[in-house]
Amino acid sequence: MKLFPFRFVCLLALGCFVSVSWIRSFPGDEGPVAPPDLQMLHERLVLAEELGGKVSKDLSSVLEQLRNMSKAANGSTSAEAVKEPAANSSWQPFLQPNIYLYMPHLRQHPDSLVPNVLLGRGRRGVSIVVGIPTVKREKQSYLVNTLSSLLFSLTSSQRRDLLVVVFVAETNSDYVNSIGDTIRNNFLKEVQSGLLEVVSPSQFYYPDFSSLAETFGDSKDRVKWRTKQNLDFSFLMLYAQDRGTYYVQLEDDVVAKAGYYSDMKTFATREESKPWLYLEFSQLGFIGKMFRTRDLPMIAEFFLMFHRDKPIDWLLDHILWVKVCNPEKDQKHCNGQKALLKQRYKPSLFQHVGLHSSLPGKLQILKDKDFEKQTLYQAHENPTAELSSSMKHYQQHSLDRLYRGQDFFWALTPVQGDYVLLSFPRPIRISGYLFRSGNIETGRDKLYNTTVEVLASNASARHKLVIDSSSHFKESDQGFIVIGKFENGVAEGEIEEALQPVSALRLVVQSNSDVWAVLSEVFIQV
Ligand SMILES: *[C@@H]1O[C@H](CO)[C@@H](O)[C@H](O)[C@H]1NC(C)=O
Ligand SMILES: *[C@@H]1O[C@H](CO)[C@@H](O)[C@H](O)[C@H]1NC(C)=O
Ligand SMILES: *[C@@H]1O[C@H](CO)[C@@H](O)[C@H](O)[C@H]1NC(C)=O
Ligand SMILES: *[C@@H]1O[C@H](CO)[C@@H](O)[C@H](O)[C@H]1NC(C)=O
Ligand SMILES: *[C@@H]1O[C@H](CO)[C@@H](O)[C@H](O)[C@H]1NC(C)=O
Repeated sequence: MKLFPFRFVCLLALGCFVSVSWIRSFPGDEGPVAPPDLQMLHERLVLAEELGGKVSKDLSSVLEQLRNMSKAANGSTSAEAVKEPAANSSWQPFLQPNIYLYMPHLRQHPDSLVPNVLLGRGRRGVSIVVGIPTVKREKQSYLVNTLSSLLFSLTSSQRRDLLVVVFVAETNSDYVNSIGDTIRNNFLKEVQSGLLEVVSPSQFYYPDFSSLAETFGDSKDRVKWRTKQNLDFSFLMLYAQDRGTYYVQLEDDVVAKAGYYSDMKTFATREESKPWLYLEFSQLGFIGKMFRTRDLPMIAEFFLMFHRDKPIDWLLDHILWVKVCNPEKDQKHCNGQKALLKQRYKPSLFQHVGLHSSLPGKLQILKDKDFEKQTLYQAHENPTAELSSSMKHYQQHSLDRLYRGQDFFWALTPVQGDYVLLSFPRPIRISGYLFRSGNIETGRDKLYNTTVEVLASNASARHKLVIDSSSHFKESDQGFIVIGKFENGVAEGEIEEALQPVSALRLVVQSNSDVWAVLSEVFIQV
């Protein structure tokens, strides 16, 4: 008789675990049925509590745990139910009751799992979600360049079918907000469209890192760094799990290969019927690892379970081991089995460019040998012209070489009044022009606030155009007329009949720039 209540408690505890995991595995369809089940368990436990004399203390702790869990499960099922694309303001904690087992400190604050969404429109249903964890670095930050590179080669339909989540893995709100501001200032359009999200963890997310065991010969700082990385990657994966079909993780210091989006999507679709756990689009660390979002809860839970024990790349390998290796067979057999769960794509689609690791003091100069050199300019046959510029170019990246289709032009930080001038020794008829600035590796180095101006060779026609009040032409200096400007790094247009033939074309920088400028394509169509 003494044993009975104790066994009852064990059974109930087991029952509530099973039922909570069961709710987790079938979010959405079975959701509404779940609360009554839990309710019933509640009632039975209350009843049991009345019966159990000696064990009532254990019982009430189980009961409390059950209450906590049912609360979590209830909260999350309702979060699951809200599938509307504009579900942006009511961010719910993640669907992970088990996380409390591995991170007990989270229980102390009900909001410890609520993400702090700085920018975001709750975009869902995309093919690819890209997650980029970023931390404060003592040295240079590459985040804006990384994002510029990712966005540079996207078509408009790809822009609609992608979500990029930047996870600022810091709790200092000044720092976190400064990253939000930087991203809003540099990528306003992408933020407004919902393509780009910026999120950080609750200030209660991280445990006290001071009591970690130093294992595998890692220093205290390194153990803390790798433990936090496990927690960061898990958070990001859980945040991204219900946003799209595939999840790709990058680092905050990479450049992308042009066309990376369609290469990844095509490869994933082709391999869809195979049992892979992840696809590798880079051979370095955690860069360019693609998972199915439906596998993310399992992967994140595994990381969380062992977050104090090992670095994340080892844990990822251990998942493969657990899944397919037979301890009674040898290493070769195991490696063969594991190889089936990961497919490598070549050439690599992302290159690591940072020099400094996020672990202070560590140099991270690894380069992916399978990342092919890409052409960073577009060549065209252009009419003969005399070229000049007030801007100094960097290394061999001269205006002449750009115009001849051999290179891009890379100018040191432009200031107001800087220009690029193309003069045609004999006036020519020009039907259209295209100037593209930036390229996929220096995506941020664009021409901003820059006008395109034309000098018509017929002085009297020019004069007439400018004094005619009905004309929409705006006069610049030295007889030039403004016909266009750079938008998002590109200036493109036609030249009207009234301005033909043309003696010169000119780009004029209207205000000081913060960054260098790349001109990667010039096309003068005659
Ligand atoms: C349940 O949650 C409360 C606060 O919400 C906390 O104080 C308590 O320790 C939790 N109990 C268990 C057993 O997790
Ligand atoms: C679950 O949530 C709903 C509202 O969101 C609430 O009315 C209900 O009481 C909750 N159930 C439990 C068991 O907490
Ligand atoms: C959240 O969604 C509502 C529409 O449901 C919209 O009016 C609002 O601007 C959105 N807020 C943000 C921060 O995106
Ligand atoms: C120059 O423009 C004027 C006025 O539009 C026109 O009358 C004249 O023929 C033009 N001259 C040449 C050489 O095209
Ligand atoms: C462009 O430059 C002009 C002249 O310096 C300035 O008045 C204007 O505010 C600038 N526009 C932008 C968008 O920076």
